[in-house]
Amino acid sequence: MQPYAEIEGRILALMDNEDDTISLMATVAAELYQAVEGFDWVGFYRVTEPGLLKIGPYQGGHGCLVIPFDKGVCGAAARTGETQRVDDVDAFPGHIACAASTRSEIVVPVRNGAGDLIAVLDIDSDTPAFFKSDDQVFLEALMEKVFGRI
Ligand code: SME
Repeated sequence: MQPYAEIEGRILALMDNEDDTISLMATVAAELYQAVEGFDWVGFYRVTEPGLLKIGPYQGGHGCLVIPFDKGVCGAAARTGETQRVDDVDAFPGHIACAASTRSEIVVPVRNGAGDLIAVLDIDSDTPAFFKSDDQVFLEALMEKVFGRI
């Protein structure tokens, strides 16, 4: 179990009533990437038009710029509105490999206060099956706390 209470406290303290989406995404990406060994890529893909995700703030090696909703793990999360937890990316049909070192991945839908899907949070790990249900619970709650008020 990661020190999630501490990580969340730090992130929420940094928000300081900020409501700019990009500023919030940049802060979350930096904090999560620094805080958890095993989070080897952390970033957001934003919904920029119906059915399309474009890269947002991230930490790690370069990510691909555009992901349609019908492609990859990110597209599956955006399309279904459900978190995707993938223990073995090679076994996921249509996985988009941005870094050859990635072994497992979690993608969490991000909604604003009105409930509109505005982005997905994508975290990749070089460790197989890195993400457990407690990670999913924490990340889903964090996205709600940070972006549910904008
Ligand atoms: N693996 C993702 C693509 C984004 S990168 O990993 C940064 C996917 O299949 O959607």
